Amino acid sequence: MTKPLAKSCIAELEQLFDVRSIVNAADPDQVMAEGGDTIRAIAGGKVSAAMMEKLPRLEIIANEGVGVDTTDVPAAKARGIAVTNTPDVLNIAVAELAVGLMLALARTLPEADRYVRDGEWAKGLFPLRSQLHGKTVGILGLGRIGKEIAGRLEGFGMNIVYFGRQEQPGQPYRYFGDLVEMAKASDWLIVIAPGGKATERIVSQAVIEALGPKGRLVNVARGSLVDQEALIDALASGGLGGAALDVFEQEPGVPPALLALSNVVVSPHMGSRTEEAREAMGRLVIDNLVAHFEGRPLPSRVA
Ligand code: 8YV
Repeated sequence: MTKPLAKSCIAELEQLFDVRSIVNAADPDQVMAEGGDTIRAIAGGKVSAAMMEKLPRLEIIANEGVGVDTTDVPAAKARGIAVTNTPDVLNIAVAELAVGLMLALARTLPEADRYVRDGEWAKGLFPLRSQLHGKTVGILGLGRIGKEIAGRLEGFGMNIVYFGRQEQPGQPYRYFGDLVEMAKASDWLIVIAPGGKATERIVSQAVIEALGPKGRLVNVARGSLVDQEALIDALASGGLGGAALDVFEQEPGVPPALLALSNVVVSPHMGSRTEEAREAMGRLVIDNLVAHFEGRPLPSRVA
């Protein structure tokens, strides 16, 4: 086990298998060396090619998470190691956080909270903020989670547009094939596309500039999709209105320059961190492992 699954799932995993955990292990290499010859499965993910080499009998990596960018999938494929993920079961949790971050940024909720606690309210009224209703929101990645976010924002009366590799037939939202063009037309840009090489820094300086001084960026995907340096510069100079970020380039590191800005709301990569989602994600990890060892098709195989 490479990541801490939900408690009830760990208990079930331990009933089914002989589990060795490197979560919080003082010396993960030692744990792997001890079990190396017998370890046939990884529950969790975050597996490098070097780690796979230490586990000669590895057959399956059951990733806890929908994104498999933290595992060297080509290396797994080359060795015939199956890789599974946990799609769908976290869509709602991530979508709810995305909407929460938008409201937190639009109404400056962290600042408002401090305002009351610090006794500022008695001294004067809180400044006026803006609402979501009537604004245009561009969704970068209208996938499973992107659609859940869009559905919720419809309820807020927002005009929804999207960018992706291709137009999706039957969508009620306007499609943009050019991200800069979409950013120009949007008040908000929500990043919810997979990480990895194909999307690296897709939210470039040009996209950030196109979003503009009144524009706001929300990232609930991966830090790798955004040019973080350009983002900080734009936020600091007024080139971008604000950002709400759940993910960063070098987690858990967050640049102090970003934290020094008042037009930024941050959270600690917690999109799928609800009890409901984590329970379901853990279940799916186990379902994939059990299917593998029973020789059945894997419920959510990605490679
Ligand atoms: C988790 C995620 O942070 O699903 C993803 O891709 O980013 C998250 O659910 C991660 O996988 C932790 O286990």
